[in-house]
Amino acid sequence: MDKIEITGGKSLHGKIKISGSKNSALPILAASLLTQDKISVSNVPNLSDIFSMLKLLESLNVKIDKKKNRIDLISSTPRSLLAHYNLVRKMRASFLILGPLLARYGEAKVSLPGGCAIGNRPVNLHLEGLGRMGVTFKIENGYVTGSIKGRLKGAKINLNQISVGATENLLMAATLAEGTTIINNAAKEPEISDLSKLLIKMGANIEGFGTKKIVINGVEKLKSCSYKIMPDRIESGTYALCVFGCGGTVKLENVNNEVCNHLIKVLKQLKSLQLKKIDNGTGLLIKKKKNIEISLIVRTKEYPGFPTDLQAQLTSSLLKTKGRSEIVENIFENRFMHIGELIRMGANLKQNGSKVIVKNCKKLKGAEVMATDLRASSCLVIAALMAHGKTTINRVYHLDRGYENLEKKLKLCGAQIKRVRS
Ligand code: UD1
Repeated sequence: MDKIEITGGKSLHGKIKISGSKNSALPILAASLLTQDKISVSNVPNLSDIFSMLKLLESLNVKIDKKKNRIDLISSTPRSLLAHYNLVRKMRASFLILGPLLARYGEAKVSLPGGCAIGNRPVNLHLEGLGRMGVTFKIENGYVTGSIKGRLKGAKINLNQISVGATENLLMAATLAEGTTIINNAAKEPEISDLSKLLIKMGANIEGFGTKKIVINGVEKLKSCSYKIMPDRIESGTYALCVFGCGGTVKLENVNNEVCNHLIKVLKQLKSLQLKKIDNGTGLLIKKKKNIEISLIVRTKEYPGFPTDLQAQLTSSLLKTKGRSEIVENIFENRFMHIGELIRMGANLKQNGSKVIVKNCKKLKGAEVMATDLRASSCLVIAALMAHGKTTINRVYHLDRGYENLEKKLKLCGAQIKRVRS
């Protein structure tokens, strides 16, 4: 298993080219199942989660032609509509193939994704919504088998909890349903808008994406299109927090107005961090000003609130700041696995239920630590960059799920970071 070694204590200076959004790319790749025509997607990040999705699609007879960050997909009818446990268990987003398969073929057997390191993560909302569209489900031996005679039926679906994945699964399914589907209490994340824009280019009729009420008028067929994935707002936010933790000036390239505005808003409490939109919104200049005392209360929330996917990185970036901050995790029940590792490095943290109190630590020191999930890994990278001495991060395969060329990007900004392959 690869490790990453970081010798901390240096500020960051340079440029970082932001990759395409992982969380947009995954549902967009799954949407290729909705048509037999070619879908060409560009700005796809090279990440292990993307490779997992491609493997799963290949097992369903999707022909894939991949060149660097561009992927062409042609989805021919598969011999079997089975998504095997070995392919689904690696990544929860694999479950996003359920809606498209049911919409196109009227049946599918998909392994349940199971729990994961950051909580239980059920799929009840996906199944209830598809049930409203006429699908009957059987759950046996860890697999969900869904079937419907004829086309899915448009329905009014009220999600009793906001879910990004359920909104995406239902949105994709509804594009080919008979009649109108209304998704109430839908997720408003930019990745939902990105998926909607692709589906519209494919011929779908969708209104209201980016709001809590999405209306989809089903069509009989979807067609070929080309689409460029939006920039990754979580990767962008992670590098902004690296600069907040370590100091320096970094220009993020390849972003867009929406990503810039979102980060400027959710990071505005970090008074000593300057974020400035440049180059017509395709760049974001990040500068750490003099260290000042900061005491914040941050609660993770669905978009446009503070993203749960930046919670761990925010925690580590605050470790050397004077003040007392409170970070509350409202989306996932067990997303504090990084706390113990940060304490081993000398962090002054106290967890109480879903709340963590961060106080200034006397000295943050390098240590051997272990990554436990994707965002916990990048939080450890930030802490290591800020710490005195050498940190070795184990299990970096978690990092490879969501950060394209992280070592290279940070190295170009002056970080002392290297991967040790084994
Ligand atoms: C997506 C993101 C993930 C992010 C999360 C929240 C992708 C590939 N992943 O995950 O990075 O952290 O949104 O922004 O886009 N829930 C249920 N029943 C369900 C579905 C969800 O109770 O059927 C609950 C979950 O347990 C969680 C909450 O709803 O507490 C939000 O989860 P959801 O938005 O579905 O997360 P994902 O789509 O899995």
